[in-house]
Amino acid sequence: MRRIVIAIDGYSACGKSSTAKEIAKQLGYSYIDSGAMYRAVTLYFLQNYVSLTDPIAVEKALKNIEIDFHPNSKTGANETYLNGIIVEDEIRKMEVSEKVSEVSALLEVRKMLVDQQRKLGKRKGVVMDGRDIGTVVFPQAELKIFMKADMHVRAERRQRELLEKEVMYDLQEILDNLQKRDEMDTSRKESPLRQAEDAHVVDTTHITFEEQVEEIIRLATSKMVQAEGPVVDAK
Ligand code: CDP
Ligand code: CDP
Repeated sequence: MRRIVIAIDGYSACGKSSTAKEIAKQLGYSYIDSGAMYRAVTLYFLQNYVSLTDPIAVEKALKNIEIDFHPNSKTGANETYLNGIIVEDEIRKMEVSEKVSEVSALLEVRKMLVDQQRKLGKRKGVVMDGRDIGTVVFPQAELKIFMKADMHVRAERRQRELLEKEVMYDLQEILDNLQKRDEMDTSRKESPLRQAEDAHVVDTTHITFEEQVEEIIRLATSKMVQAEGPVVDAK
């Protein structure tokens, strides 16, 4: 079977990253969390008081940012590093969530990260999730998924997810943040969140995590059989 690119886009907290991670594991692909990259840039901007309305300050800051992913020694899951320091938990906090959509609306930020994302996916065999993966980063991706789910269900899931990391937020605060980010992400000028014409819609409101993984694996397997390109051993 041939290796492909799987792009998973959609609204906040629909299950994109956990699903993408599991699919990558099952297929032996690498998983890239593009949202983590926007979050890491946001964290740097917050830590260094970078003014988003000052293009020179933004440009200068971007030159000082290096984002990497390294596997966790126990779980093997990729974790996010900002300038050599692990920031996996810090980038999920509300301070970052509150600012990230503003930062990711900046053209210069997008240019830098899209460039890096394309390099990471060049050799195929990658599952990447975000907002513009199937529309901008990999418009030729062999499989595109667009995920959605009811807003309340999403907020409850995000709250549970954060609680597991012992971070507690009020449900209303999470709901407000998801709504605000969806609104900003869909209405921005640069690469707004939208469904690619050739994307498969997966609504995760009433299905289990296992069901959505199974559905995407089934779609991926059929694309891997059809895909053109150099033959590479399937895992
Ligand atoms: O996990 P959650 O869905 O809450 O968000 P995320 O995937 O970590 O993304 C955080 C934010 O980064 C989004 O709300 C977008 O503003 C931005 N983002 C983007 O603009 N483009 C991407 N490809 C990925 C994320
Ligand atoms: O990446 P995104 O923000 O779209 O969502 P996520 O962080 O992967 O998913 C939010 C939470 O929903 C995770 O804890 C998932 O395990 C959970 N979940 C799901 O993804 N799908 C379901 N059908 C049920 C729960």
